[in-house]
Amino acid sequence: MQRAVKKLHIETYGCQMNVADSEVVASILSPYYKITDSLRDADLVLLNTCSVRDHAEQRIRKRLHELASLKKKNKSLVIGLLGCMAERIKEQLLEEEKVLNFIAGPDAYRSLPKLIEEADSEIISFNVHLSDVETYDDIEPVRYNSNGVSAYISIMRGCNNYCTYCVVPYTRGRERSRDSKTIFDEAELLFEKGYKEVTLLGQNVNSYCWKSGDTKIDFADLTELIAQISPLLRVRFATSHPKDISDKLLYVMAKYPNICKYIHLPVQSGSNKMLKRMNRVYTREYYLERIKKIKKILPECAISTDIIVGFCGETEQDHQDTLSLMREVDYEYAFMFKYSVREGTKAAEKFENDIPEELKIKRLEEIIALQQHLSLESNKRDVGKTFEVLIEGVSKRSDRHFFGRNSQNKVCVFPKMNCKIGEYLTVEITKCTAGTLISEL
Ligand code: SAH
Ligand code: SF4
Ligand code: F3S
Repeated sequence: MQRAVKKLHIETYGCQMNVADSEVVASILSPYYKITDSLRDADLVLLNTCSVRDHAEQRIRKRLHELASLKKKNKSLVIGLLGCMAERIKEQLLEEEKVLNFIAGPDAYRSLPKLIEEADSEIISFNVHLSDVETYDDIEPVRYNSNGVSAYISIMRGCNNYCTYCVVPYTRGRERSRDSKTIFDEAELLFEKGYKEVTLLGQNVNSYCWKSGDTKIDFADLTELIAQISPLLRVRFATSHPKDISDKLLYVMAKYPNICKYIHLPVQSGSNKMLKRMNRVYTREYYLERIKKIKKILPECAISTDIIVGFCGETEQDHQDTLSLMREVDYEYAFMFKYSVREGTKAAEKFENDIPEELKIKRLEEIIALQQHLSLESNKRDVGKTFEVLIEGVSKRSDRHFFGRNSQNKVCVFPKMNCKIGEYLTVEITKCTAGTLISEL
């Protein structure tokens, strides 16, 4: 492909892993393209897509129709679709969405220069091959949208868990871990460049495993290695599957103040019948035992979760079980969703999507209201406490205030004073909302 400085605009949908992937894509294309924020300046537009729920795909279809009118005005504009939706719908998408010049699945980003070159010669091209080994471990991501303080590091790809409702194992392929040395080097380089926080990413980070000669590095070992880079580098991670979260990890977290005291532990449902149908392979009792252990070893730890309402066959009692589990755990935060049927998954094939939409909405509203209450109560308990926060940027509401997060991942807003973005500051919380801790000092 010819080296010329053209302009690339990337839009990213879906999870944090997609944000990290877009940075890999920017790196792969950096010899040929400079990133632009402006859609109008772009020679190439890439949408990095998500398929996790139907709503996510509908949003992307809508965006493609908007891009089609832009392309009418600028015929030379090249448009490519990346990510999970490209993988899920494949060639069919090229037929359906005439605006697309090419599509590339999550393991095909090294072939982007070639796909784009072919697209230039008006051949519609695609690569949706899924790999058992690709981890992009030698590629230094271009942090084009960064605040210079926090960065994501992808430590593994794919998922082997096959929760019955979930499309991710089909769009992202087999689980594979990345060489721990390249993860360490990437984190160290970020710290040298002034970054103060890294988030280690995978669909199921607790099953991370890298073998080098006779040594085996598991997720707890990896987290400890990264935490040792500097006490000034915060370490976060996502996502933990309840079945794999080990005591060893909890003890490592307790040992290092710079490993943030925050665990995202998706439960999905509080009912054993639903958990079994979902193939989550743990019970309510096992999950609650894990929570008890977290609270014992890490008394300051905040816990958040993901919940699906209205999964196939969910009764009022199952729903009540979810509500009671939420109260028992007392989550700081939750991401809550209505079940969305994904074609090709086991649930779509085996179970009837039998909960009417209105009932799904009602149940969703109930869990959102409960979580709102739990979050507010949790924040109220923090009023009067002091926290160390990492300053991440200027508050959206007021340019006289900064925002940052404490170790528990709670957003804190405080007056700017003489501080700078990227510094640590100790603040006393004087008031709160359900979503924010506020310091007026
Ligand atoms: N690997 C992570 C989750 C990745 S997807 C884990 O296992 O925890 C993020 C969340 O989307 C899931 O936790 C689940 O709550 C939700 N989700 C996945 N598939 C869904 C579907 N078909 N309908 C509704 N929500 C879904
Ligand atoms: Fe999906 Fe389950 Fe894998 Fe999470 S663990 S990505 S919910 S299959
Ligand atoms: Fe979506 Fe794919 Fe992430 S389906 S949630 S972008 S792994």
